[in-house]
Amino acid sequence: MREKAAELRCALQAGVIALLLGAAIGDAFAQGDAKRGQYLAQAGGCLACHTEDKKDATPFAGGRALKTPFGIFYGPNITPDPQAGIGRWSEADFVRAMRLGEKPDGSNYFPAFPYPSFTKISDGDLRDLWAFLRTLAPSSRANQAHDLRFPFGWRLLVAPWKRLFFTPGAFVEDKQRAPVLNRGAYLVEALGHCGECHTPRNILGGQKQGRFLAGGKGPQDKRVPNLTLIIIERPPAAG
Ligand code: HEC
Ligand code: HEC
Repeated sequence: MREKAAELRCALQAGVIALLLGAAIGDAFAQGDAKRGQYLAQAGGCLACHTEDKKDATPFAGGRALKTPFGIFYGPNITPDPQAGIGRWSEADFVRAMRLGEKPDGSNYFPAFPYPSFTKISDGDLRDLWAFLRTLAPSSRANQAHDLRFPFGWRLLVAPWKRLFFTPGAFVEDKQRAPVLNRGAYLVEALGHCGECHTPRNILGGQKQGRFLAGGKGPQDKRVPNLTLIIIERPPAAG
């Protein structure tokens, strides 16, 4: 009898340990949700900059021309092609690009890639975005070089720019605000990157302090309206 009880206890302990181990391993290798990633990619407008502006263009295979005061940027191929796209990347490379604006080799991306906003995307959402990008069909469409005015083509200039205007780090919820306001702020500030076009910029291309969403110029030199004029402040009660 006593033996039976000991056996049972032993089996239970083994079960608990297996469960704990399973949870730990599961977390370390958590897989992103590609379906959710697709929704997040839509919220982030990735397609617009990473797809050529022509009929039958391959989605996410790059080639969209973005006219800015600094010259023309071309969104690169972000399909999993090992040569033309980002097929050799690890998830960590992707997180580094989005969160820190850094290439796998450590050099800086131009902020035409709106990582100053994307840095605020949560870890879980980055994982889902990555899972979605991995499901795309690889495209061998070659990237083209950006066509930038002197001296803006010089990538080394991005380092001092980042020191002045870039604050890395995921979005932090304001616990005093209602969840719906936090969700909205997250969509506006992180994924939707609304400020990239709707906030005016100084001559160095940094967003002007204290003028969030007050209107400016978009990538194609288009006037972008002031959103603060159309927002009626009526915050829902917290809770
Ligand atoms: C406003 C245009 C724009 C939007 C929107 C945009 N990107 Fe990009 N992205 C760029 C540009 C331009 C670059 C290249 C920057 C450079 O060369 O320094 C880039 C680079 C990248 C890279 C690095 C590719 C490489 O080969 O090194 C990744 C990954 C990426 N973007 C993912 C995304 C994802 C995911 C989204 C949506 C959540 C997104 N981008 C939305 C413009 C954009
Ligand atoms: C790539 C640049 C860009 C981004 C990013 C962007 N917008 Fe806009 N937005 C524009 C432009 C340009 C217009 C003006 C459209 C026109 O005149 O045809 C506009 C117009 C608007 C309008 C209409 C305002 C009016 O007075 O008519 C609203 C509202 C708006 N945007 C909200 C947003 C929100 C919310 C986000 C983020 C989720 C966002 N925009 C992100 C470029 C952008």
